Amino acid sequence: MTIELNRLLFDACESVRGELATGKVASYIPALARIDANKFGAAIVTVDGATATFGDARETFSIQSISKVFALTQALNRIGDGLWQRVQHEPSGNAFNSIVQLELERGIPRNPFINAGALVVSDVLLQGQSPQSCVAALMDFLHLVADDGSIAIDEEVAQSELDTAHRNASLASFMKSFNNLEHEVSDVLQVYCRHCAIAMSCEQIARSLLFLANQGVDPLTGARIVSEQRARRINSIMMLCGHYDASGSFAFRVGLPGKSGVGGGIVVVVPGVATIAVWSPRLNASGNSHTGAAALEAIARASGWNIL
Ligand code: DON
Repeated sequence: MTIELNRLLFDACESVRGELATGKVASYIPALARIDANKFGAAIVTVDGATATFGDARETFSIQSISKVFALTQALNRIGDGLWQRVQHEPSGNAFNSIVQLELERGIPRNPFINAGALVVSDVLLQGQSPQSCVAALMDFLHLVADDGSIAIDEEVAQSELDTAHRNASLASFMKSFNNLEHEVSDVLQVYCRHCAIAMSCEQIARSLLFLANQGVDPLTGARIVSEQRARRINSIMMLCGHYDASGSFAFRVGLPGKSGVGGGIVVVVPGVATIAVWSPRLNASGNSHTGAAALEAIARASGWNIL
């Protein structure tokens, strides 16, 4: 099984190697711009414990918006469906850092994966604790789901992001004016920027979200992370909102729930089967990995894995 899976992954990734020069590395967070743009890795972890890796699968990189899946899971575990009073679960059709819709919709973000929605999620996670203990609790959760205590925040990326978080500060202040933020903007930004700066490898990312492929239970430890219904809902939001204004075309091409980050990572869930993470830092115009999406399309085609 592992040999076949490795071959499938290798062939699919090699088939898109020609795409690696297309796109641009994110540079609006200065520390992200120093990455080697030619990095290319991928990992598949199956619910029965098999792992296949390709290229730079074991090298850590900035997970950026992929962290929003962990933050959302924690917020739902903390306050349950009350979250949906403060953030919707609708596709936005706008860029990840857009402010336009927020004014029309009176400070309620379209979904938890656009930056405005993730800032509300960070505000929820802050309830009753300092930014430091809030981030520590999120890291504990990540260590649990990844079954790996070594995962850490890249402090240089975190500082670089905080230093340049003008757009996120605007989104947070704007929502505070609509009473959709309980804590200080600076505290919310601390939590948000620090969780975006978590560094993980493709293998660690795929392993950590395996519970979403197995109805909320980590199939390798047996720990229940979320209810079956919650796992299904998180997957639905990934399907419809995981790639911002390009969520439709990602679903069209790949047919699996996924989440991207401007560090060049993308993770997808194959319900009942596996999770797959890919990494290639050059991004398309929507801020999603150009070659990463192409690799996932090739993997989905070769494996026949899709939910459609
Ligand atoms: O707030 C930001 O802009 C980044 N920390 C995260 C953006 C991101 O990853 C968008 N995803 N493709």
